[in-house]
Amino acid sequence: MARRCPCGLLLALALAAALSAAGAQETCSGAVPAPPRRGARVSVASFGGAGDGRTLNTGAFARAVASIDRLRAPGGAELYVPPGVWLTGPFNLTSRMTLFLARGAVIRATQDTPSWPLIGPLPSYGRGRELPGGRYISLIHGSGLQDVVITGENGTIDGQGSVWWDMWKKGTLPYTRPHLLELMSSSGIIVSNIVFQDSPFWNIHPVYCSNVVIRNVTVLAPHDSPNTDGIDPDSSSNVCIEDCYISTGDDAVAIKSGWDEYGIAYGRPSSDITVRRITGSSPFAGFAVGSETSGGVQNVLAEHLNFFSSGFGIHIKTNTGRGGFIRNITVSDVTLDNVRYGLRITGDVGDHPDDSYNRSALPVVDTLTIKNVQGQNIREAGLIKGITNSAFSRICLSNVKLSGGTPVRPWKCEAVTGGALDVQPSPCTELTSTSGTSFCTNSL
Ligand SMILES: *[C@@H]1O[C@H](CO)[C@@H](O)[C@H](O)[C@H]1NC(C)=O
Ligand SMILES: *[C@@H]1O[C@H](CO)[C@@H](O)[C@H](O)[C@H]1NC(C)=O
Ligand SMILES: *[C@@H]1O[C@H](CO)[C@@H](O)[C@H](O)[C@H]1NC(C)=O
Ligand SMILES: *[C@@H]1O[C@H](CO)[C@@H](O)[C@H](O)[C@H]1NC(C)=O
Ligand SMILES: *[C@@H]1O[C@H](CO)[C@@H](O)[C@H](O)[C@H]1NC(C)=O
Repeated sequence: MARRCPCGLLLALALAAALSAAGAQETCSGAVPAPPRRGARVSVASFGGAGDGRTLNTGAFARAVASIDRLRAPGGAELYVPPGVWLTGPFNLTSRMTLFLARGAVIRATQDTPSWPLIGPLPSYGRGRELPGGRYISLIHGSGLQDVVITGENGTIDGQGSVWWDMWKKGTLPYTRPHLLELMSSSGIIVSNIVFQDSPFWNIHPVYCSNVVIRNVTVLAPHDSPNTDGIDPDSSSNVCIEDCYISTGDDAVAIKSGWDEYGIAYGRPSSDITVRRITGSSPFAGFAVGSETSGGVQNVLAEHLNFFSSGFGIHIKTNTGRGGFIRNITVSDVTLDNVRYGLRITGDVGDHPDDSYNRSALPVVDTLTIKNVQGQNIREAGLIKGITNSAFSRICLSNVKLSGGTPVRPWKCEAVTGGALDVQPSPCTELTSTSGTSFCTNSL
């Protein structure tokens, strides 16, 4: 498919541009302590596995991981995946391990969907995200782990998601679809130099995690594949995502924190999140917060983003019933090309887990700064639509320049206060008061 062809070139260009831009470029280094030198190495091929694309290696992966647990090697151990196509069902990782995919190694998910084990719903969601009850476990899964590295020489984790997308389209899914990689309640995680491809559902999902680095990964899925979000940090803190190329069927990066009454009760925010040097394309958003933000999202910096042929450049979204907060979010240095909406900040997006969501639980959206955005071939500048009785406050737009082939359609605003400096097309009147402008000047 065409989508696979230009990606390498674009990633290479993006990385080369980023690397030549500055010797002193900021990186995620230090966000997670460097893992120790692994004291042992095992290969999945030594546990009865075969990389022939036909043999099912679920048992081989499970035995290899169990052997790492038993070895208790100083510094942990590496699980090496040699070149070849390693067909497998879901398997769990363990602490103090590196999963290393050699160049030409593909971990490929089985399409035998009934054989995928189920796990319980996340407490902050109360049910599967798509359907009531449990959900299929992710292809690669971990819970309660420390010090896990998933890396290699650009090997691929392939979800073969089309069977799941077809079930979704036909309405025959029995449970919520699986992620490609989900890590729960874990810390000290590094994911790098890997390709994630054709996930059944969201690709990379760290939930209830801390100290997570995701860098130099490629995430690919067709634009018409449902809900194939790229990277979704969820109720997680100290997360750093950088130098990724993401082209999928849903938001490239979306920061979340639980769903309505379940997320409010669980009360775990996503905080201290850095997202930088992301390039890609999505029929939905390049960079998103939400819509599930019931535990709150705060202290987010997203910078040097570059999205093309997308639905929205930046989409910050929540809903009545979500509760929680979205505050202290800065998005800066963004280039957009051929994007329908430059920016949307909206309080009426997303569905509810059930009818007992709290209609009085209104989210608080406060202190968002969007600056240095250059867009061309933009259809509509954007929409900033707060919630009656919970207006979005201290929204600052600065140096936002959006142009279109035909004149770009103007901003629309509702239930919002804040300021705008040097914004084209001219900002809506809600953002042009003297007090809003001085707030905006002071916050930069
Ligand atoms: C890694 O693989 C992806 C997908 O095939 C490709 O687009 C990219 O160019 C590769 N990167 C490197 C450095 O080889
Ligand atoms: C994998 O981990 C999950 C969550 O911790 C657990 O429910 C499941 O039983 C584990 N699977 C195996 C095969 O150990
Ligand atoms: C990014 O990953 C590719 C392989 O996927 C590797 O060749 C390259 O050296 C990595 N870049 C960095 C900065 O780690
Ligand atoms: C806002 O978030 C940034 C990270 O983007 C953080 O450095 C700063 O301390 C936060 N400000 C407040 C008032 O918490
Ligand atoms: C619904 O939300 C409102 C506003 O946060 C809160 O005061 C009220 O206690 C909540 N009701 C329930 C049943 O949780």
